[in-house]
Amino acid sequence: MNVTVIGTGYVGTVTGACLAYLGHRVWCVDTDLSKIEKLRAGKSPIYEPGLEELIAMAQERGGLEFETDLTEPVRQSDVIFVAVGTPPLPSGASNLAYVEAAARSIGAAMDSSRFRVVVNKSTVPVGCGNLVGALVREGLSEEASRFVTFGVASNPEFLREGSAIHDSLYPDRIVVGAEDSATMGVMQELYAGLAAQEFPDPWFAPRPMTACQVPIVATTLTSAEMIKYSANAFLANKIGFANEISNICEKVGADVTEVMTGIGLDSRIGSKFLNAGIGWGGSCFGKDVESLLHTSGEYGYRAHLLEASITVNKAQRLVVIQKLQEKLFILKGRTIGLLGLSFKPNTDDLRDAPSLQIAEKLIQMGARVRAYDPIAMDSCREQYPDLRVLYCNDVLSLAEHADALVVVTEWPEFGELNLAEVASRMDHAVMVDGRNLFSPERAAAAGFDYTGIGRAGFRVNGVRTHQQ
Ligand code: UDX
Repeated sequence: MNVTVIGTGYVGTVTGACLAYLGHRVWCVDTDLSKIEKLRAGKSPIYEPGLEELIAMAQERGGLEFETDLTEPVRQSDVIFVAVGTPPLPSGASNLAYVEAAARSIGAAMDSSRFRVVVNKSTVPVGCGNLVGALVREGLSEEASRFVTFGVASNPEFLREGSAIHDSLYPDRIVVGAEDSATMGVMQELYAGLAAQEFPDPWFAPRPMTACQVPIVATTLTSAEMIKYSANAFLANKIGFANEISNICEKVGADVTEVMTGIGLDSRIGSKFLNAGIGWGGSCFGKDVESLLHTSGEYGYRAHLLEASITVNKAQRLVVIQKLQEKLFILKGRTIGLLGLSFKPNTDDLRDAPSLQIAEKLIQMGARVRAYDPIAMDSCREQYPDLRVLYCNDVLSLAEHADALVVVTEWPEFGELNLAEVASRMDHAVMVDGRNLFSPERAAAAGFDYTGIGRAGFRVNGVRTHQQ
């Protein structure tokens, strides 16, 4: 099929590249010429493992082109994805200006040569499917409005940054919301190869042994939009729950990693997204929970659980500061090294990253803050030029004469560190492990005064002791 994807951000670029890899002919369109030129040169505008390789393979398999003008691609396409940004407004509502502009332009470009489906891939508030349909219609010329036929679908994405290609090629489900069978039929045809897993797996994203037929969940437009919000709100709540339990574990002398293993093995609960830490961040969870709260408010409903999720998360981000105070007493004049800046590993994304809040709070309290991140330091320098953080070239320079290290992002390479060497460089070998990356025993054996999240007691030589 012929497909246009509007917006070359995270979702748009990955979706376009995956659909082309599956054998469709795809045009990715963006008004930002510099992004399009980069993509034409085979370079990804975002850091995502495997994406440049996938773009190269997709160009060979199905045909993947990059354009700044959507007119010709839309005319030639059966399916047009809207995958533009919906950044949060100060009120918590989503800014729909880009979606609205895209929908009108699609309308203006349509002719009557074929039936087309306009698909909402951007995370839009509940009810936007109808809005997009109305705006596309508004964009049609008077003459075109008599002949043009199109349907609207909602097809939320569930891809995680850092594993976006894996999540797109081997999804747990494909959700499609539509109001008529012609639209649903086009979407089922588009995703037939993906649902049946009929494609060779790329070397950088091998098919999991467990991968099988992917269910297509066919719903109404509104249900599909609600599925997206509910999934993210549930995951945010799940992490928030683990964080809340971690705080109780510290009071009663339990280890949250053991507790979560114990509850996660219950198949009704499941073991994923139960890692306690410094709270969730990133471009989706905060924005989507706020947006769902905003929608419920519009209907006069107060969503207490969602409110609590945000409250627990805000408090959790600052737990590492309390722990530094408990270890060092005075933070003024201390040198604190942050291990990691990105909101999670394998991305350079700093949107709603806990690192920024932790750094700002420490600076405000008079500490000197250093940071090392394998990928995100350039973006941090560029996006937050006023953040008074000293960037270090490696972990050893981060540790040199530092008073404490805080694990902010659990980059796999941090797990490989020679901890004894790191500790030996520090004035005070204090480690606050905000991600429970290290085993307390290993850190203690390396000479660290270690504290994790929700690990009130740990074993040294098989004997359970307390951290303080
Ligand atoms: C999320 C959703 O997972 C994805 O389905 C959706 O489409 C987009 O939003 P993403 O923001 O890329 O994806 O990251 P994710 O892996 O979900 O992590 C979100 C945050 O939760 C990160 O800050 C991460 O560190 C944190 N997290 C995750 C935890 O603190 N504990 C966990 O157990 C899992």
